[in-house]
Amino acid sequence: MARILVLNGPNLNLLGTREPSVYGSDTLATIIGRLESAAQRRGASIVAFQSNAEHELIAQVQAAKGAGIDAIIVNAGALTHTSVALRDAFAGVGLPFYEVHISNVYAREAFRHHSYLSAVAAGVIVGCGPIGYELALEAALRRLGSAG
Ligand code: DQA
Repeated sequence: MARILVLNGPNLNLLGTREPSVYGSDTLATIIGRLESAAQRRGASIVAFQSNAEHELIAQVQAAKGAGIDAIIVNAGALTHTSVALRDAFAGVGLPFYEVHISNVYAREAFRHHSYLSAVAAGVIVGCGPIGYELALEAALRRLGSAG
């Protein structure tokens, strides 16, 4: 059974109340619940983790292989635009990962246009709203299916 780690970074715990005109009204718990159902229907499982702390996200990436994770879905929030350390963790561990952004970062401030993660990601899903996590799950499972 494929095991997918779903990482959410700073301020994504506030989904539901945070700038709903940008991020919608789904809470993170609702999004994760939908992902769990989608994974179950596909015979896969997800492990979800949110933190506002960069080092905790890095620790999760580093531990993922040992924990039997096959792929990672990540919305790193603002760390996307700032964290060389998180990029190095993904590059160092080498598991396929999918970068998700709920909003269309390219239609927003210039500082959101650069991602440290995209160049080492297996795929990037931007601006599709919360369904982006489900699209990433689909992409990850298809990749794992065709690899296995
Ligand atoms: C975000 C976009 C980032 O620029 C922002 O800092 C976030 C959320 C998104 O999902 O659209 O926290 O990653």
